[in-house]
Amino acid sequence: MPLSSPAAQPPAEPRVPLRAAILGTGGVAHLHAAALLGLPDVELVAAADPSEQHLGAFAETYRVPSRYSSLTAMLAAEPLDVLHICTPPGGHAEQTAAAFAAGAHVVVEKPAALSLVELDTMVDAGRAASRGLAVVFQQRSGSAAAHVRALLDSGALGRPLSALCQTNWFRTAEYFTVPWRGTWASEGGGTTLSHGSHQIDLLAYLLGEWSSVHATMWRLEHDVETEDLSHASLVFASGAVASVVSTVLAPRQSSLLRIDTENATIELEHLYGHGHAHWRITPAPHVDARTAGSWALPDQEIPSGHDALFTEVYASLLAGRGMPDLVGHPARALEIVTGMYASAREGRWIPRADLEDPALRGPLTAPIIDARHRSRSGGSAA
Ligand SMILES: NC(=O)c1ccc[n+]([C@@H]2O[C@H](COP(=O)([O-])OP(=O)(O)OC[C@H]3O[C@@H](n4cnc5c(N)ncnc54)[C@H](O)[C@@H]3O)[C@@H](O)[C@H]2O)c1
Repeated sequence: MPLSSPAAQPPAEPRVPLRAAILGTGGVAHLHAAALLGLPDVELVAAADPSEQHLGAFAETYRVPSRYSSLTAMLAAEPLDVLHICTPPGGHAEQTAAAFAAGAHVVVEKPAALSLVELDTMVDAGRAASRGLAVVFQQRSGSAAAHVRALLDSGALGRPLSALCQTNWFRTAEYFTVPWRGTWASEGGGTTLSHGSHQIDLLAYLLGEWSSVHATMWRLEHDVETEDLSHASLVFASGAVASVVSTVLAPRQSSLLRIDTENATIELEHLYGHGHAHWRITPAPHVDARTAGSWALPDQEIPSGHDALFTEVYASLLAGRGMPDLVGHPARALEIVTGMYASAREGRWIPRADLEDPALRGPLTAPIIDARHRSRSGGSAA
C-alpha cells in the first residue's frame, strides 16, 4: 500500500437523484443533513442510529423518510449511492467496509480511522468495490484555499520556507464526559488527532507532501488518557519547515496558519471555518504592485465547510467522475499525526518513509508528559 494513495475512482453511471443516508445522528450529523438538503439531485433517504432519542429528533428535523437502529438493517433495506458516516471513530473502518460491500460511496468524518492499518483496509475495500472514499476535512474546501493552493502550485509565490500551524481551541472537562472521548481505544488519540488534524490537513493540502516530523505530547489540564497539547516540527518535501501546535487549552480560541514563501506571507486566522476575510496575502518588498495585485482572492467567495465540501463531492459523483481531487490524499493528515505520536513515543525524528513499517501503522499511542499537578512556581500542586 503506497503512502497517501488516492481515493478509488468509480466508473459507474450515476443514478439521479443520488440516494444518500447518514449513519450516526449526533452532533456533526446535523451539518451533513443540512448540507445534503441544500444540494440538487441528492435525496437524504434514511438515517440510522441505535440511540432512538438522537435518531427521532434528527429524522423529524430533516424529514428523513426512513429510520433504522443499525447500519446492517439500513443497508439491507435501502439501495444507497452514498453513506455519510458520522459515528465515533472506532466504528469507521467496519462501517465503511460494509457500505462499500453494499455498493455505496463513503463520506466519513475525520478521523477516518483509528490507525493507518485501518485506513489502508478502507482504501483497499473502496478500490475493490470501485467506490470512492471521502474523508471530511472541510478546511480544505472553499474558494480561498483553492486560490492559495493554485498560487503556491504555480510557483508565483516562490518556494515555501517557513510555516506556523496552530489549533488553539478550548474544551472543558464536560466535553470529555462523552464516553468515547479521551481514550486511546475509542477516540484514537488526543487533541492532535481530533482537533489539530483539521489545520494540519489544510497545511498539507497547501504545501503538499511531507518528509519528516518531530513531536512532544503533553497533558497539562484534562483528566484524559491522551494529550491536551502537542508541539511539533514538520518538514515538507519542498524543504519548508512548519511549527505545529494543537491544544484544547486556549481560552481565546483561534485556528492559525501562516506560510512564509520567497515572495509573500500568507496568513489565515479563523476558528472552525474560513471565508475570504480570514485570509491575508502580503507581498515581499521586492514584489511589484501589479504582480501582488494579481494574487487577489477571486470575486466569487465560497466559504469553507461541509456545504462546500459536499457540493464538490456530489457534483463530481453526479458527473460520473467519482470523488473529486479536493478529497485526494485521504490518509495524509493521519500519516502526519501518526508520525507525531511515533516521534513522541520513540524520541526521534520520524521520516515519512518509516511509516511503511507495519509496526508504525498500528493504533496510535504515545507516552504523554503529565504536568497536570505542577504549581505556578514549578513544584507539585498536590
Ligand atoms: N468535521 C468536523 O468538523 C467534525 C466536528 C465534530 C465531530 N466530528 C467527527 O464526527 C464523528 C462523530 O462526532 P460527534 O461529535 O457527532 O459524536 P456524537 O457522540 O455527538 O454522535 C455520534 C452518534 O453516533 C451514534 N452511534 C454510535 N455508534 C453507532 C453505530 N454503530 N451505528 C450508528 N450510530 C452510532 C451515537 O448514538 C451518536 O448519536 C467523530 O469522528 C468526530 O471526530 C467532525
